[in-house]
Amino acid sequence: IAKIITIDGPSAVGKGTMAKRLASELGYHLLDSGALYRLVAVNALQQRLDPNIASDAEKAVQNLHVEFDDDKVYLNGTDVTTKIREENVSKAASQIAVHASVRRALFAFMQAFVKLPGIVADGRDMGTVVFPHADVKLFLTAVTAVRAERRYKQLSKHAKNVTLDAVFSELVDRDARDSTRDEAPLIPAEDAVVIDTSVDTEAQVYEKIMQTVRL
Ligand code: CDP
Repeated sequence: IAKIITIDGPSAVGKGTMAKRLASELGYHLLDSGALYRLVAVNALQQRLDPNIASDAEKAVQNLHVEFDDDKVYLNGTDVTTKIREENVSKAASQIAVHASVRRALFAFMQAFVKLPGIVADGRDMGTVVFPHADVKLFLTAVTAVRAERRYKQLSKHAKNVTLDAVFSELVDRDARDSTRDEAPLIPAEDAVVIDTSVDTEAQVYEKIMQTVRL
């Protein structure tokens, strides 16, 4: 049976980095569920569909042609690896993630992704909704200021017109939307191990994660 490790938490908490590292160390497959919501969002924006409208969101998730190739991701034949990380896409992703129909469509895809020897799944509801029977559940947290700083550093590598203030308020908005929606709101699973990453270095967080995984 394939092993399942879930890593959930709010925006820019370091889930992505940790999930990638863990998957590569264990030789597991990585399921970046946020990337799927981001892809649906880009698809919606490209087709001038409104991510806030359920029927539009449904169209965007239906005609989705996605290809993964190493570290790159293609949508309808175009490389969107960098694009899916842009701020307007983050916002649209969290708007589109509110709709039950979108979540349902991606749910099937994510469950079918499970394969030997195991997967590391990162997102918001991996431990609560998608993989409630996961072998190990982690939930990362960090104070907003720290997360905003991390995201700002990431984004300013690719875009020049980002400000820390804008990133901060975007993050607060998105966290609020992710935590208060009816479908799969962001909350730690009852049996998740919660790790606060506000002060620890990346290496320290990884060490804590490895300790939990080895148990
Ligand atoms: O990297 P970051 O944490 O900022 O975002 P992400 O994990 O790529 O997710 C982008 C958006 O997709 C989130 O703000 C959520 O609204 C949505 N999402 C979700 O609803 N459920 C998931 N399992 C993963 C992402």
